[in-house]
Amino acid sequence: MACLLACCVLACTLISIQVNGQQQEKIVLSLPEVGGQPGKNHTLDVSQLAKLVLPPPHESRVIGGQVTTNTKLGGYLTALLYEDEFVCGGTLLKENIVLTAAHCFLGRMQPGQWIVAGGMSSLNQKGIRRHVKDFILSEQFREDDMNMDVAVMLLKTPMTGKNIGKLDLCSVTLKPGVELVVSGWGMTAPRGRGPQNLLRTVTVPIIHRKNCRAAYQPMAKITDSMICAAVLGRKDACTFDSGGPMVFKKQVCGIVSFGIGCASKRYPGVYTDVMYVKPFIEKSIKALLEKQ
Ligand code: ARG
Repeated sequence: MACLLACCVLACTLISIQVNGQQQEKIVLSLPEVGGQPGKNHTLDVSQLAKLVLPPPHESRVIGGQVTTNTKLGGYLTALLYEDEFVCGGTLLKENIVLTAAHCFLGRMQPGQWIVAGGMSSLNQKGIRRHVKDFILSEQFREDDMNMDVAVMLLKTPMTGKNIGKLDLCSVTLKPGVELVVSGWGMTAPRGRGPQNLLRTVTVPIIHRKNCRAAYQPMAKITDSMICAAVLGRKDACTFDSGGPMVFKKQVCGIVSFGIGCASKRYPGVYTDVMYVKPFIEKSIKALLEKQ
């Protein structure tokens, strides 16, 4: 899985190479000889070239998303910080309960180091911050294949405010082709490193599990706790979107989990199937609330 994550970052970095050569004003394209005729040199200016290689800035940008605000989405998206650093997205299910991915906790198991920030659109805003009292990862979570990539967090104090919203758990079985909304601060064309400051959202259709399984064979195992979605080659979540919700009609139906590359032509994004893991989520919420 470490390899999968690494692949994601790597694939994205390669794309970014095309994006970066913007210091030059003009670019000369040397075309090869065709049918014995000597090749010609074509001069393009950077803006022309950018139109050719770059998708429009606020639209189909790598993951095909667009900039949005948390309020527009419904205020349910939270940013999860560990030791003050942004790690993952999360979804507010109740005033003091947040849903996210189990893999966000790898090497980050101290509740006292976590902070949940709500109501933010840009990562450099402070948002409404809450400490974390406790969290539960699925016992069936497997790091090697990301099976059951789900976790539930209990906040020390309730997260409330005018721009704060919540989502219900999924109550529908999603058929291939159904479109859902994913959002997060994940990389957009990953010029490489960190999360994006601006919140983005993208609509992606569910991909048949059989096709997803076949695409990932033999690189990764698509288990029954996973559901796939993407517009191959165009729209997808990416690194740092993890833990965030895939939403259908005000219900959280998927949790961003993993993918090989981002917006890959072959590999869809893989999400935790909330319908499948609902018994775990409900049981954990109950256990956390009783502990308070
Ligand atoms: N594992 C990534 C994270 O930690 C999420 C990657 C999702 N990738 C994708 N192509 N849908 O943020």
